[in-house]
Amino acid sequence: MRRSDAAGFVSFVGAGPGDPELITLKGLRRLREADVVVHDRLIPVELLSDVRADADVIDVGKAAGRHGVAQDDINRLIVERARARGRLVRLKGGDPGLFGRLDEEIGAVQAAGLPFEIVPGVTAATAAAAVAGCSLTARGRASLVVLATGTDHTADETAGLDWDLLARIEGTLVFYMAARRLPSITTLLADLGRDPGEPALVVEAAGRRDARIVSGELGTIAEAARRAGIEPPAIFITGPTAGLARVSLARLLEAGAYA
Ligand SMILES: C[S@@+](CC[C@H](N)C(=O)[O-])C[C@H]1O[C@@H](n2cnc3c(N)ncnc32)[C@H](O)[C@@H]1O
Repeated sequence: MRRSDAAGFVSFVGAGPGDPELITLKGLRRLREADVVVHDRLIPVELLSDVRADADVIDVGKAAGRHGVAQDDINRLIVERARARGRLVRLKGGDPGLFGRLDEEIGAVQAAGLPFEIVPGVTAATAAAAVAGCSLTARGRASLVVLATGTDHTADETAGLDWDLLARIEGTLVFYMAARRLPSITTLLADLGRDPGEPALVVEAAGRRDARIVSGELGTIAEAARRAGIEPPAIFITGPTAGLARVSLARLLEAGAYA
């Protein structure tokens, strides 16, 4: 077993949303140099072909709503494997700093006295807007973007978020992990005064060849997504710019953008 760095070094790398070309050059370099790769489920598997043949590759992925490797075990694994082999890449879907329990993993690495870095990635929110052909801000109409989770650790979508405030915000709301909570989230926002006619989008598997977009309005998008059979990973965007979605996926595919 090759050991390139006795001290160990952990790179938390954003793998991007699903298109293997949406990782940064720095992230890809770290992946190619790695002695160990510990990865999530939602990473483009194609990236693993860039990993050295003698590197260890460990999948600690969790499916939505199911338990994978416990977080404490992941933290321990990162520390142990980095110490044993040297350069460890912790490859996370999207950007590692958004809804990825990054702080807990950094805490374990720091407590073990190991140095680390964060290599950012393209997050699902911007990838979804790109697939839909719209922006998340618009001069004079959306000067604010909120990135929120539709499923927090309490398993209660109303906990931890100020829904009155979210309903009043004049800007774009983006909900991660919301695919199974769309009916309750959209109803709550509308009940609290958000315009049910506001443009809204749901993007499934943004950045992947099988990406799908459902567009509509806040008041009706949950039913439209249900009819379309939208499944995780999907992201929900509501706000003025969602109405500017101009590029249909069919056109993207025709144009060979995913070739
Ligand atoms: C645990 S969070 C991780 C987010 C990730 N760190 C990021 O920056 O995109 C997982 C959620 O991100 C969203 N997500 C991740 N990849 C996605 C994709 N390719 N298309 C749409 N949503 C995605 C979904 O809402 C999914 O439930």
